[in-house]
Amino acid sequence: MTIDIAVVPVAGLGTRLLPATKSQPKEMLPVGRKPVAQHVVDELAGSGIRRLLFITGKGKHSIENHFDIDGELVAYLRETGRERELAELDFERQDLEFFYTRQRRQLGLGHAVLCARPLVGDQPFVVALGDSIIGINAQSDIVRRMIETFEASRADVVVAFEEVPREEVFRYGIAQPRGPVDDVFELERLVEKPEIADAPSNLAVAARYVFSPVIFDKLVETQPGKGGEIQLTDAIQLVLESGGKGLGLRLRSHERRFDIGNFESYFRAFFEFALADAKFGPRLQQFVRTLLPTCKLSASQDSPAQA
Ligand code: UTP
Repeated sequence: MTIDIAVVPVAGLGTRLLPATKSQPKEMLPVGRKPVAQHVVDELAGSGIRRLLFITGKGKHSIENHFDIDGELVAYLRETGRERELAELDFERQDLEFFYTRQRRQLGLGHAVLCARPLVGDQPFVVALGDSIIGINAQSDIVRRMIETFEASRADVVVAFEEVPREEVFRYGIAQPRGPVDDVFELERLVEKPEIADAPSNLAVAARYVFSPVIFDKLVETQPGKGGEIQLTDAIQLVLESGGKGLGLRLRSHERRFDIGNFESYFRAFFEFALADAKFGPRLQQFVRTLLPTCKLSASQDSPAQA
């Protein structure tokens, strides 16, 4: 496997999670015991990624701080004999290199990926959205499988897909497969947020990609879409339309995507990770059982859920 670099865009404004994200990045919200970005990095490290290029922006310094080695804190924990807490910082010593560049204006995910060009250059690379976790506790090697498929098939684009309920396809970029759908399938095109009746499948783009550098040329050509943003899916579409080879990989059942982009999915993710916690999960499950009969009444007082 030769691809060992992942671009992790984390520059978005996270407006759907206000006020929680007013002065902290959504990528640093905790899910269970770790911030989202650490779940993403752990997953990528498990798939053989060694170089991480974060596309950051205003107010995102805490992400850089999190992956720095905090010698003072380590010394303090060591001096005070806090071995268990010290072990929680083991992630700092992973054999990884971190790079950061800034997206100076938030012109969309496609534009964020284009900001990686001067550093990535003429080599294939992974893109992993910094606000999406795949699988509980980094138990996914989807990126490794995607890289292997990319290299074996000489593809230009490999995209991860998750099967979603048919009635929810209008929220996602959806695959139109060419031919039969298996764990790996050929991609005819991507349809952004289709009507339920028109959706060509229920396979939704799932936050992980492998690209040949040709994507950079297509991102330059991509016209701003909704909200003036340069969309990554539009650039992928251009690759496919110009004869590029696109493949899809299906996530396995244990590799669900947790999207930390809106409160409903954030709450679900936190809840599921907390319930799965080896130490606190079992008691939390008991607690939730006692809570459930009463919480129906109080939830009805709240405003309707927002997307
Ligand atoms: P979203 O599409 O959820 O956009 O980003 P957003 O701006 O962060 O959130 P809202 O819509 O205001 O609530 C998906 C991923 O792409 C990154 C985000 O940080 C997130 O990890 N992104 C998005 C960028 O890096 N730059 C952008 O201009 C937009």
